[in-house]
Amino acid sequence: MKKLIIINGPNLNLLGKREPTVYGNVSFEEFLERIKNTFSSIAIDYFQSNIEGDIIDKLHEVGFSYDGIILNAAAYTHTSVGIGDAVKAIETPVVEVHISNTFSREAFRHQSYISPNAKGVILGFGLKSYELAIQSFL
Ligand code: DQA
Repeated sequence: MKKLIIINGPNLNLLGKREPTVYGNVSFEEFLERIKNTFSSIAIDYFQSNIEGDIIDKLHEVGFSYDGIILNAAAYTHTSVGIGDAVKAIETPVVEVHISNTFSREAFRHQSYISPNAKGVILGFGLKSYELAIQSFL
């Protein structure tokens, strides 16, 4: 069975409550239930942290054994050389995901430290961005 993990960065624990006009009104837990049912032939793990180092530790932990990582580093996407380096250091391919179209937003969101080392980038399709990322590993 293929093993994937979704890693979400800061403030994504508030999905459903946080700026619903940008990020929608569905919680990630609710969404996760749904995609686990949709993609029942693969194992999908989930990790969320608001702490940069914890995200790096998780990338190290899964990055040599899992088949794929779906990473929404949220605000750290635009600031974290450390997470970018971790993505480069590991073997498991990483697909970078964003719920919103970061290029239609503020200029500081146009920069990503993840993209240069990602297998691909999917953004702007709401929570569906995660489903498209999962499909890319099938
Ligand atoms: C985000 C976009 C980031 O710019 C922002 O800081 C987030 C969420 C997205 O999924 O659209 O927290 O990664």
